[in-house]
Amino acid sequence: MYPQLRIDLAKLAKNLKILEDLAKKGACSLMIVTKSFCADSGIIDMLLGSEYLDYLADSRIENLESYADKARMSGKETVLLRLPQHCEIEQTIRWADISLNSDIDTLRLLDEEAGRQNKTHKVILMIDMGDLREGVFFRDEEEIFELCGEILKMQNVKLEGLGVNLSCYGAIMPKADNLGHFCEIAEKIEKKFSIKLPIISGGNSSSIYLISRDELPAKINNLRLGESFILGRETAYGGLIPGAFGDAIQLRAQIIELKDKPSVPIGEVGMDAFGNVPEYEDRGIISRAILAVGKQDTDPDGLTPLNTKAEILGASSDHLLMDASGCGYKPGDTVDFSLDYSALLKLFTSKYVKRVYINEE
Ligand SMILES: Cc1ncc(COP(=O)(O)O)c(C=O)c1O
Repeated sequence: MYPQLRIDLAKLAKNLKILEDLAKKGACSLMIVTKSFCADSGIIDMLLGSEYLDYLADSRIENLESYADKARMSGKETVLLRLPQHCEIEQTIRWADISLNSDIDTLRLLDEEAGRQNKTHKVILMIDMGDLREGVFFRDEEEIFELCGEILKMQNVKLEGLGVNLSCYGAIMPKADNLGHFCEIAEKIEKKFSIKLPIISGGNSSSIYLISRDELPAKINNLRLGESFILGRETAYGGLIPGAFGDAIQLRAQIIELKDKPSVPIGEVGMDAFGNVPEYEDRGIISRAILAVGKQDTDPDGLTPLNTKAEILGASSDHLLMDASGCGYKPGDTVDFSLDYSALLKLFTSKYVKRVYINEE
């Protein structure tokens, strides 16, 4: 059935191996982030076979719930990446061994609930080093120390480490200076409270390039990697990681109509299905293919047809329009696409898109 996500587990295993080798080089433990593929069970099972991997991380508690039992049985810990909502404290304690945090009220709720569930819950305190998403702002050192002091007093919550997230909202690059400053804060905390923080988590797929340049500060001992695993890309410059696969996941969609028609619609132009006023390039009569996949399933701007003669013209909720001139297709044929992160994320999230593991076909 189509549309279909075609998942190459062997290529993903290769990507994982490359990240493990990089992490070893940077003396880092590894959290693989499972949200972009909605914790697909085939991919999770492959990850659980890794000996190096210590953690599986996700922003959605539902995804952690789907694999927490088997992850724990395989000796891996589960990590909630998005700061816990107050409405999901019970599930956070149940399904996440570790969560990222920045708020004292949330931490108190976690402490109470962990007591109720007779558990010790580990937390990573997030420090905002300037990207302006989650974390205590790095200039508010007193607030950071106060929060650490409060956590250290808690009975059922353990301060497991510090984390930083860059290249997200503010697109701020991880560099030796901002990550260096982050490490200084960690050192000050360790000195002030006479503790050793087990995890100093230095970011996401945008931090990888620093390992290759030997510029990742030595104190950083953990990375949380999503896109570099699923799409083989580091995200500071957007380059493919040497040896990794960018095409481990592809989309296959089916042509439901193929007709020669003009390239410019006929009549007065109003608004399209999404309220935009479109503009068209006049290419004369073209072979127009309609494929059964649309904006309800994916981000059409993030699809690239593998057939270089084919070109995407646009999409509505359920239809993808393609100039297929010279491709020789007929209705019923399928077209394969490579994906960017945004297209991939939505395809995994759409319940209308089937998944196949091509190694098992
Ligand atoms: C807190 C946090 N860490 C790490 C990641 C992984 O990011 P990336 O996919 O760039 O590796 C994400 C996003 O998925 C995140 O929100």
